[in-house]
Amino acid sequence: MAAAPGSRRFDLCSVDDVPPGTMKMCEVEDEMVLVTNLDGRFHATQGVCSHQYFELDKGFLTGDSITCALHLSRFSLETGDSLDPPAELPLAVYPVIVEAGRVLIEVASGPLEVNR
Ligand code: FES
Repeated sequence: MAAAPGSRRFDLCSVDDVPPGTMKMCEVEDEMVLVTNLDGRFHATQGVCSHQYFELDKGFLTGDSITCALHLSRFSLETGDSLDPPAELPLAVYPVIVEAGRVLIEVASGPLEVNR
């Protein structure tokens, strides 16, 4: 299916690349996007922490959140909200579409939103 008017779709990876309970870093137009699979529910967030530059795939999935390995801020994968200091800004969250065995995101046209 085509993207809605005013939006764009990016094909990130195969669903098989991200088994339940795991994550995978993908790249979209020079930005990192983290795909996670929580018991079959896929989420996509910015791949770099909103506190300082640190890749979140080096962190830990903890329930429905991810913990950044550098200063241990935790973020909700559902909302992107920062749950623990020192990070204050939320992670940008991208709507996920699973189609024909692929994980895609559909985002507004223009630069990919990233909070830093
Ligand atoms: S870089 Fe992630 S919490 Fe500091």
